Order: sequence, then structure tokens, then C-alpha cells
Amino acid sequence: MIGLAFMATWLPAAASRQAEGVDGPFQGLYVAAAFAVAFAAGLALAYVMLFRRRDESARGAPAGRPHPLYLGLWTLLAAGLAVYALVAGFPGFLDQTVPPYGAYPVGVTARNDGFDFTYPGGHVADTLHVAVGKPVQLTMTSEDVIHGLSVPAMRVHQAILPGRQATAWFEATLADTFDLRSNIHGGEGAALRTALVSHQPADFDEWLRRVSDIFTGRTLAEAGELLYNREGCKACHTTDGTRLVGPSFKDVYGFEFPTRDGKTVLVDDAYIKESILTPNVSVVAGYEPVMTPYEGKLGDKEIEAITAWLKTLSSKGGAAEEAEPEAEGDPAAGDGQEDK
Ligand code: HEC
Repeated sequence: MIGLAFMATWLPAAASRQAEGVDGPFQGLYVAAAFAVAFAAGLALAYVMLFRRRDESARGAPAGRPHPLYLGLWTLLAAGLAVYALVAGFPGFLDQTVPPYGAYPVGVTARNDGFDFTYPGGHVADTLHVAVGKPVQLTMTSEDVIHGLSVPAMRVHQAILPGRQATAWFEATLADTFDLRSNIHGGEGAALRTALVSHQPADFDEWLRRVSDIFTGRTLAEAGELLYNREGCKACHTTDGTRLVGPSFKDVYGFEFPTRDGKTVLVDDAYIKESILTPNVSVVAGYEPVMTPYEGKLGDKEIEAITAWLKTLSSKGGAAEEAEPEAEGDPAAGDGQEDK
């Protein structure tokens, strides 16, 4: 019992469902070990006192063979402890190994300079947010060396190896902020330490909604740039004039281009919208009609944001803007243009 009271102070507060399956066997083994140490030390002490050499002439009796009962007893005790460890620990081990069906998936990327947590909607955060009472499944990989992900309060620890996928899951039972870190030394300068924030489910939804809205805290053009990076445009379009699979986005807005079928198009808001939703309707001369249509994937507001951002990349962005009073959010975009 002293052992238990003592442990309560040095095990971190249990804040996940699987903590029980870890703490139970751990405490059991801890008590057994404490008992064994006390017993062995006590026996040694008692024997030293009882059988000490009392006078100079005393001669000890020669040691005989131990009674077979002793051997049997020790073997049984040790085997019993091993069986206890297996029986007490196995259910918790199984539970931790198999994530429940429908667990909330969060991607984890570990790097020497920190963790990236990617939520199903595409939002990336440097702290891990979860909802109380909802199992969360982490799928983890490392971009450089071996790291680990450890949340003591959740009793989660998993090594993360480069080039491999590691998984772990847990279900928080308390809403609070907990320590999350790598407890594997990742080399010079690697100090991976951040936080796990567990929210009440409604607060979590609210948090996710807020951070997933790319338009909060960003100008329209900044949201456009984020979409360019996130939606894969980057793979085919550069911003510095270099030609990839598609034309560069530098100096596109407000300029005129010949199309494959001999027409000329002016890149304005309407044409950009058409190019994104149905790119193969008019194909720029010199390019193949290979762009994926984004119809159904990007909404009006997203396209507006991309358009605003394309304006900042064009020397005619400001001029075209005047001709197109329809578009909103351009003051920021226009200002950015003038700053450059
Ligand atoms: C698979 C490669 C690929 C991806 C991904 C891609 N594009 Fe394109 N894009 C092209 C090609 C090729 C063209 C030129 C042919 C054409 O007009 O369809 C083009 C043309 C365009 C044009 C017209 C440019 C002009 O000079 O007239 C716009 C605007 C455009 N893309 C926007 C986007 C945006 C925004 C995204 C991301 C949401 C995107 N593209 C993703 C390949 C791609």
C-alpha cells in the first residue's frame, strides 16, 4: 500500500482509457518487486543477526544441500509472477495494438524541428488536438531520423522510424493540456516537445471548424496561396516563370494567350474560374490538356481566393482589378502587389 500511495505521486495523472491496462499490471509488478526486495533484504539482515559468529572458537556447520521444497517454492513464485505479468498485461497490450474501428485518423510527421499533425480535412497543426471520449488513431512517419511519440498521461509511447509507418491509438478521458514529446534522442538540436490538447467534443468540433476555415486570419490572396500548395497546383504550375507541365502563374492574370484552336483568351476572373473547373474547354497553345478538372473540389470562394492570389503574381494584376470591380478582397492583394 505504501508502494501504491507512492506511485500515485510519480505516475502522471491517467487521462486515457487504456491507462488502466498499463497502470494495473505495472503497479502489481511494482508491488511484487518491492515486496521481493524487502523480503530478501529482511532475510539477509535477519540471518546476519541470527547466525553471526559469536565467539572465536565457533565453527560453522558445513553447508548441506538445500531442501527440495525451497527450490520448488522459488521456482513456483517466480513462475507465478511471470504468469501474472502475462495475464494482467496481455489484454491491455492487445487493446493498444488494435485501434477501434472508426477511430479518428490523425497523420503525424516527425522531423528534427518538430511534429506536424494532419487532420482529415487537411489542416496541419504543430500541437495534437483531440476530443474526449473519441478514439484517435495516429499514423506516424519520420522525415529524418528515429523519433518517438510519447504522451505519458495517455500511456502512449511509439517509436517512429524514417521510411516506415507506425501507428498508435488512444482515447482521452480528461479535457486538459498534456505533455507530448519524443523520448528518443533524435540527434543534435532535436528537441521534439509539444502539447496534446484534449477538448470536450463540442469544443473540439469548434476548434477544428475554426482552424480548418482557411479564410480566417488570412487575406483572400493568402488563402489562395495556401490552396495552391494544398490542392496540388504546385506540381504543374510554378510562380517564378518556369514552365512545368502547365504554364507558370507568373504574369498570367490580365495577359492574353493563344489557345490551341487558334483563338485568344484574356485571363480574367471568369477565364480563371473556367480554367480551374473545366480546364480542357480552352487549352493554352503549347500545352497538353492534362490538367485535372477541379469541378466539385473547389468552391466559388476558393476560386476567388486563387484569383486574388494570381493577381499578386501578375504585373497586370492591379490594372485588371480595376476593370473587374466584382472581385472582393483585392485591396490586400493589390497592396501586396505594390509592395513588391
Ligand atoms: C496535372 C497538372 C496540373 C495541375 C495539378 C493543375 N494544372 Fe492548371 N494547367 C495545367 C496545364 C497543362 C494547363 C495548360 C493547358 C490548359 O489550359 O488546360 C493548365 C492551365 C491552367 C490555367 C490557365 C492558364 C493560362 O495561362 O491560361 C489556370 C488558371 C490553371 N491551370 C490553374 C490551376 C489551378 C488553380 C490548379 C490547382 C487548383 C491547377 N491549375 C492544377 C496543368 C495542371
